[in-house]
Amino acid sequence: MCRSLQRGRFHAAAAVLGRKTGAEHRWLERHLKDPFVKATKQQNYRCRSAFKLLEMDDKLRILRPGLSVLDCGAAPGAWSQVAVERVNALGADPTVPTGFVLGIDLQHISPLAGAVFLSEADVADPATLRTILSLLPAGKVDVILSDMAPNPTGIRELDHQKLIKLCLGLLDLSQSVLKPKGTLLCKFWDGQDSRLLQGRLKEQFQDVRTVKPQASRKDSAESYYLARLYKGK
Ligand SMILES: C[S@@+](CC[C@H](N)C(=O)[O-])C[C@H]1O[C@@H](n2cnc3c(N)ncnc32)[C@H](O)[C@@H]1O
Repeated sequence: MCRSLQRGRFHAAAAVLGRKTGAEHRWLERHLKDPFVKATKQQNYRCRSAFKLLEMDDKLRILRPGLSVLDCGAAPGAWSQVAVERVNALGADPTVPTGFVLGIDLQHISPLAGAVFLSEADVADPATLRTILSLLPAGKVDVILSDMAPNPTGIRELDHQKLIKLCLGLLDLSQSVLKPKGTLLCKFWDGQDSRLLQGRLKEQFQDVRTVKPQASRKDSAESYYLARLYKGK
């Protein structure tokens, strides 16, 4: 779940109970001052995370009209909103090619014009791969996005390892669904296995870099690997 939504529910529950902890007060204060939270509401994005992808795409040109995109861990759908705009999935601009966006999540994803969603599906499940393949109009995609995150346990090293495992699974998925020269953008939480993931990515992509967008909180271990020019068949 998008962290701001998660926190929102947590806070609402605490407010109903009439007791807030110091940590909640600090979180609420930071949340209310956050320019990305305001911009999320103003620009009708489903989640603050939209600004991470917008920023990375503005700088690094990951998406363009006509590309097909698989958005892993898509709920509530903010990255898919950005992808629909940037690949012209709705055909809003008739002067450029029309792209395609497929979003997947363990949770329910509310419908979004221009995107196809596969809700309540685990990316790591082989049955999901078969469904993905049946939904892709061109058989493979140009870009795999992953903002996936397991439910945090609070144990930093354990959470890190779980997310690295999910990212390594994306490399297997790439073999079946990513076009040669395609791009993979995946979130990871930094830790001892980050280099392992980076090494695997370098084996399979010609260009791998680490990106930490401004919209990603400075005190978070979150970063992204952007892997370009997939060497696969
Ligand atoms: C930070 S949220 C993604 C926010 C999303 N990028 C957006 O902008 O709306 C992380 C998501 O990853 C999903 N997730 C975690 N593990 C997954 C898995 N194995 N398969 C599919 N989705 C998964 C979670 O359910 C959660 O919704």
